[in-house]
Amino acid sequence: VTAASPSAAPLTAILAGLGGLGEAWLPALTGPGAAALGVTLTAVCEPDAPRAAAALARRGLALPVHERLWDALAARPAIVVDCTTPNARLAIAREALLAGAHVLCVGPLAADEETAARLIGASARAPGHLAVAHEARHQPGLRQLRDLVRSGALGRPQTLRAELHAPPGADAGQAAMRHAMLRGPAIEAFDAARAILGADALSVACDARTPEGQPFAHAPEAHARFGMADGALFLFSGNRAEAGPPSSPHGMWRLTLSGGMARWDGAGPAEAWTLSPGSAPHPLPPPAALPDVPASLAGLVAAIRAGRRPETHVRDAAASLAMVLAAIRSADRDGRPEAVRRLGDLSDASGLSATGLASPRQPQEA
Ligand SMILES: NC(=O)c1ccc[n+]([C@@H]2O[C@H](COP(=O)([O-])OP(=O)(O)OC[C@H]3O[C@@H](n4cnc5c(N)ncnc54)[C@H](O)[C@@H]3O)[C@@H](O)[C@H]2O)c1
Repeated sequence: VTAASPSAAPLTAILAGLGGLGEAWLPALTGPGAAALGVTLTAVCEPDAPRAAAALARRGLALPVHERLWDALAARPAIVVDCTTPNARLAIAREALLAGAHVLCVGPLAADEETAARLIGASARAPGHLAVAHEARHQPGLRQLRDLVRSGALGRPQTLRAELHAPPGADAGQAAMRHAMLRGPAIEAFDAARAILGADALSVACDARTPEGQPFAHAPEAHARFGMADGALFLFSGNRAEAGPPSSPHGMWRLTLSGGMARWDGAGPAEAWTLSPGSAPHPLPPPAALPDVPASLAGLVAAIRAGRRPETHVRDAAASLAMVLAAIRSADRDGRPEAVRRLGDLSDASGLSATGLASPRQPQEA
């Protein structure tokens, strides 16, 4: 458990993994939003040094590049932002947590249950936080749906529906991936559904399809029906190789409640209606503004400063990953219903010893 910091004193950060996504994070970590948060990016870690140098040059940045994380950790950064692929996640989290840093990794958390359990174990033994950058759940319209559920103003949730449509198009890695939808963008919608309902998934039946004539080798299309712990149904339908107008990247959402309905188009504010009398509009409080940096980074910094757990800490994120893995098991068994396992309850063998742990980096007083 980290101690609270009394001020907005500076926090140093390093970025691990300077591929496509890492480069996309650079402006957020070096721009005015980061400065306002008190976050300073001091170095990057990328084994492909020429790739890192090219990315930094494109962004007009001059930062040290380390090929090994251990060397970057010698400067004792407060935060490690992990933008690598899931197969590097465990090694990076272990090293960074051992060195006393907090870790923010992009999703998905892991590719399998065992790695997720090890990440939970590593985090539980370390004083630093391990958080996952699930961004969709922070979208203002989704927050409005969540707040409506929490308020109970239109009764209890019955059915939550999310539709995601994207035009065909993929880089080579994405195109070759097995379960391109479920291992790709689906996790953001699954995570958002848990956030809206305030409930985890218990079971799923899922069909995945590989239509002809599109660039993905396997299953860019998936249709999943989750039974949630609050009794609601969550229906997800996604296709990332579809002709015609796309949905917002955050999807289109409809929520039926015992006393009304709400919807969000993935961009503007959410809207709601009462069931009676006569399906009248139900005004919602205006949506909150997004921060100038990824909301997960702002959330982690706020959590560090307040001495509390971030919203999408590893154990919470594991419940979203569990939905993905259960949906894949179901799709691979022709849609047979599967239980969604509680990954945090799996036996953990993190390999991270409790001895020799450094204290988590606290903001440095200027
Ligand atoms: N690209 C997207 O739009 C997108 C969207 C959502 C999530 N993601 C997630 O982000 C991950 C990264 O995506 P990407 O497109 O940037 O992949 P990428 O393959 O282009 O980049 C990953 C980078 O990480 C580096 N790396 C690997 N191991 C490392 C280690 N131990 N330490 C430091 N760097 C290491 C690689 O050399 C590579 O440059 C994806 O696997 C996925 O999990 C990507």
